[in-house]
Amino acid sequence: LRGYEFIKTSKSDKGALLIELNRPKALNALCTPLIIELNQALKEAETDSSIGATVITGSEKAFAAGADIKEMKDLSFSDAYGKDFIENWSEQVYNVKKPIIAAVNGFALGGGCELAMMADVLYVGEKAKFGQPEIKLGVIPGAGGSQRLARAIGKAKAMEICLTGDMFSAQQAYDWGLAAKIFPPEQLVSEAVKTAEKIASYSKIAVKAVKEVINEGYNLGLDQGIKYERRVFHSLFGSHDQKEGMSAFAEKREPKWKDE
Ligand code: CAA
Repeated sequence: LRGYEFIKTSKSDKGALLIELNRPKALNALCTPLIIELNQALKEAETDSSIGATVITGSEKAFAAGADIKEMKDLSFSDAYGKDFIENWSEQVYNVKKPIIAAVNGFALGGGCELAMMADVLYVGEKAKFGQPEIKLGVIPGAGGSQRLARAIGKAKAMEICLTGDMFSAQQAYDWGLAAKIFPPEQLVSEAVKTAEKIASYSKIAVKAVKEVINEGYNLGLDQGIKYERRVFHSLFGSHDQKEGMSAFAEKREPKWKDE
């Protein structure tokens, strides 16, 4: 993998890509060059057949303290609207087909909280702090924060968080169902990598289908979602890996996936 300035990447031999946001002096504020590098790394993961899932993490102090306030403070309306500020990065992360796990230690604020919520699985370290403090800057969340938070934890809590700018804790994120698991800070990243490796050990075609049906279904009514799931389930009977997975079970052996 190539060298980057604002992120560090490493690949495990079991198919996990680890992306560490690495702009410590600015608490990993998401400046444009950082976002370009993050998208580049995710794009490379997408085409690298040896990678099954990606973990995005920051440091123990900060996952990311938000969009870069100093960079955006002088933007005009026509800069923001004309260039569709934030859409260009947030949609790219969200549209990645391979699973992404966000492993959050420290601050995940504003765009940092939004990036964490764009991930497919959120793991948190016990000292993580989340929030949407944009209200304090005279703006509102712009990378899906108000929408994803309301869907994940309910309108009342999301409204309070976005209106007050108050932070919420890792324990709250876990109790409210935003985070899938909570760990001591020093175990967080290795546990996230372990999960990514487990995902990477399965058929990539089935993994892709799981991510697709859950995300599609999230925007549909229950009946439509169930129908969509069933159609994709049916389609997997056309795959090699369905035959292999079920034959291996019947023959009491490990499956050998071809990802097709
Ligand atoms: N953008 C740019 N720089 C940032 C930053 C941000 N979001 N967050 C922190 N930094 C910088 C600080 O300016 C400071 O730089 P200098 O040393 O050059 O002054 C450095 O990181 C360290 O920060 P602090 O000295 O403030 O550290 P702290 O430990 O005292 O406080 C903090 C930590 C509570 C996270 C505080 O830095 C903070 O409140 N940051 C801003 C959080 C925020 O408002 N985020 C939302 C951004 S808007 C957004 O994200 C829009 C969107 O929806 C996409």
